Amino acid sequence: MSVLNGKNILLGVTGGIAAYKAAFLVRLLVKKGANVRVVMTESAKEFVTPLTLSTLSKNEVFSSFTEENDSTSFKEPKWNNHVALALWADLFLIAPATANTLSKMSTGNCDNLLLACYLSAKCPVYYAPAMDLDMYKHPTTEQDFKKLDSFGNIQIPAAFGELASGLVGQGRMAEPEEIVSFLERDLLKSLPLRGKKFLITAGPTYEAIDPVRFIGNHSSGKMGYAIAEVAAKLGAEVTLVSGPVNLKLENDSIKILSVTSAEEMYNAVHLHFNNCDVGILSAAVADYRPAEIASQKIKKKDNEDDLSLQLTKTKDILASLGKIKKNQFLVGFALETQNEEENAKLKLKKKNLDLIVLNSLRDKGAGFKTDTNKITLISKDNKVIPFPVKSKKEVAKDILEYIIDQIHA
Ligand code: CTP
Repeated sequence: MSVLNGKNILLGVTGGIAAYKAAFLVRLLVKKGANVRVVMTESAKEFVTPLTLSTLSKNEVFSSFTEENDSTSFKEPKWNNHVALALWADLFLIAPATANTLSKMSTGNCDNLLLACYLSAKCPVYYAPAMDLDMYKHPTTEQDFKKLDSFGNIQIPAAFGELASGLVGQGRMAEPEEIVSFLERDLLKSLPLRGKKFLITAGPTYEAIDPVRFIGNHSSGKMGYAIAEVAAKLGAEVTLVSGPVNLKLENDSIKILSVTSAEEMYNAVHLHFNNCDVGILSAAVADYRPAEIASQKIKKKDNEDDLSLQLTKTKDILASLGKIKKNQFLVGFALETQNEEENAKLKLKKKNLDLIVLNSLRDKGAGFKTDTNKITLISKDNKVIPFPVKSKKEVAKDILEYIIDQIHA
């Protein structure tokens, strides 16, 4: 999945011949899963129509501070709120950026809606210059580039090639494909978990009794899957060891290892732990399994009302990692029904964890099958941080934000 997926992108189109490429740009960004809105200058409309860009972006295109009235029925002029547009954006891409617009951006000139959005934007601003070679080399343009870069704007350099004037040189706007991969590379670079390897467990385990029966639990895996998705979105390289669940991953960069029993989960986890930076064990692993697995289906006996199963302890995966961990940040979960904080603190210590995520089954909105959870984070130095009920995705963000702070501290 592209890092642009789900991102709100405000595309600013200014009046140069390369504006026709904005149509391809919008299409590519939408294909990557981005939400695209377009703001264009009046002169950009000479090169590409608002209708084309609004059809491709599936959104209204803005170019003036007020909406034009149509000729058939009189409507109150509508104010196009540049502040709201700029705040909506996760990133503002100005492509093509003409010499005229760049010069206005560098001096704070604000005579159109696009420039008002630029001045209001708090998100990263990328610009792809497009102009003739001599304009590109002109000292004022060079000064503008320097100034804009010093403001924190990010330039997507123009390419060398044949220009609309027929001359050959630098000034051609980067191709839409190049612009999109530039954005992807740059966004990936700034992700807080880039380069970090995460090992996550999720779901229940099934412990076989005979070929058709097992001991299991009600874990849906939703919490672990949400952590895996959010971590991957934040740039982590994620390996997810999953028990049997009915869930699909959205992010195809996550490596999934499907297991059934506690023993299989133990083996899969140990295969990857040495190589990871963070281990988050959210699976609801069976603490006991049948001592023997019957090779044939156990038949009902007419003369016996009771059946006893001999159970034996499974290996505690989390505790085993606590024993061998070196620099890894190790996180466990504790699902408790009484003396919650005390029990969680004991587990944290006993299993040598850096963090424990406590869920209490007494809390409404917490637990196995729900889409929400209510957690308390307890750190190695016994700091207790309670959170309100939130969606499991939001909870995953809270947990990961805490981990990011710790591993970057
Ligand atoms: N866990 C594990 N392997 C097991 C049992 C538990 O890795 N065999 C992990 C879980 O993934 C979780 C943590 O240990 O992160 C706590 O699990 P929990 O069942 O709450 O604790 P237990 O230590 O099993 O204690 P109890 O069931 O008695 O509360």
